[in-house]
Amino acid sequence: MSVIPGLEDVAIKYTSLTSIDGQKGILRYRGYDIKDLAYNAEYEEIVHLMFYGELPRHDELERTKKNIAEGYKVPDFVIQVIRTLSSDSDAVAMMETAFGAMATTEKNFAWSKEKDKEIALRIVGSTARVVAEIYRRKRDMPPSTIHEKSGNYSESFLNMCFGNINEKEKIDAMNKALILYVDHEVPASTTAALVASSTLSDMYSSITAALAALKGPLHGGAAEAAYNQFLQIGSPNNVEEWFKKNVMEGKKRLMGFGHRVYKTYDPRMLIFKEIAKKSISDEEGKKLLTVAEKLEELGVKQFSSKGIYPNTDFYSGLVFRYIGFPVDMFTALFALARVTGWLAHIMEYVEDQHRLIRPRAIYTGPERREYVPIEKR
Ligand code: SDX
Repeated sequence: MSVIPGLEDVAIKYTSLTSIDGQKGILRYRGYDIKDLAYNAEYEEIVHLMFYGELPRHDELERTKKNIAEGYKVPDFVIQVIRTLSSDSDAVAMMETAFGAMATTEKNFAWSKEKDKEIALRIVGSTARVVAEIYRRKRDMPPSTIHEKSGNYSESFLNMCFGNINEKEKIDAMNKALILYVDHEVPASTTAALVASSTLSDMYSSITAALAALKGPLHGGAAEAAYNQFLQIGSPNNVEEWFKKNVMEGKKRLMGFGHRVYKTYDPRMLIFKEIAKKSISDEEGKKLLTVAEKLEELGVKQFSSKGIYPNTDFYSGLVFRYIGFPVDMFTALFALARVTGWLAHIMEYVEDQHRLIRPRAIYTGPERREYVPIEKR
């Protein structure tokens, strides 16, 4: 036995879902390149691809959309639970609470190849309603409603958040952002979901475990942390000074940079950057984008020799802001997309290669010793 710090380069499962080449900066879902999927597919096509292994035909896509939409009807008590939380609560912690509440309805959950995918599709839909409800609760807006006429998942989700949205560019940007965040092999959050589901716990509880891991600033929390750096810097003229004081002298980590697997540009970051440059037109947005580009340039100059490059979270916040979301929702939006990846991995694991995940620890404490009564201590 030996301890592998952070389980670096330790494989926990086999997968046919997602492949990453960290040296070349390649990411594929079921063999399809992330750029091809982001620029051509609808999010629901990717959900079908991840759950069933193939891109759907028309009839299959319609059935997948219908099953997902079933999930929009979240039980009223879950909406009420979200509404009891204070509006300044952390959005991902609110998601954990909502998923914990939904887990209370799973009294006799049993994994089964026949039923799992249908339940998973509903959970994909429920997540959209939960995140929309959290967005509205945090803004003291009335509860979300389901807009029957909505076309696809992105439009339905944005309608649940903002009311009727008809800006096609924003729906398209949301669709791309969801696809980019769907899955990434087995990061900390997916590993947490695998551990929970390996005990045959239910799907909602496994997602709750994943949310708890995603929340941290070293993982999904970086989407908010990276954007907050741009706000803190404020203007392009301050970038050099900020970088020198905080990163060089202050030894603070540059958030949105570095990755356990990628040792070159994260392909998702390049796509998020393209979307941001094409979509952002307001003055404040353009200013923040210039700040980000200058920070990227300094970061790459300083860290690329160590294989540290910008990752998916560096520009994603600028795209979420363009769509209309505040920074306190960015990690929840990451989680919204990643629920599909988490579900795909736990179904793949439990159905095809199930084994209870139970590592060991190497003992370094004292050898056997006799009990000493308190009077003699
Ligand atoms: C995501 O795993 C996934 O796939 C995750 C994800 C997904 O889609 O699920 O891709 C999403 O979480 C992306 C990562 C978002 N996190 C951040 O942007 C936070 C900042 N990044 C770092 O904290 C760090 O790069 C990690 C956590 C992402 C990876 O860290 P590792 O592999 O554990 O590397 P490490 O912390 O051991 O660092 C190695 C060296 C250290 O220097 P030394 O102590 O050896 O001198 O690199 C340095 C670190 O100080 N380093 C950085 C840095 N990241 C690493 N220095 C400055 N800024 C950084 N961002």
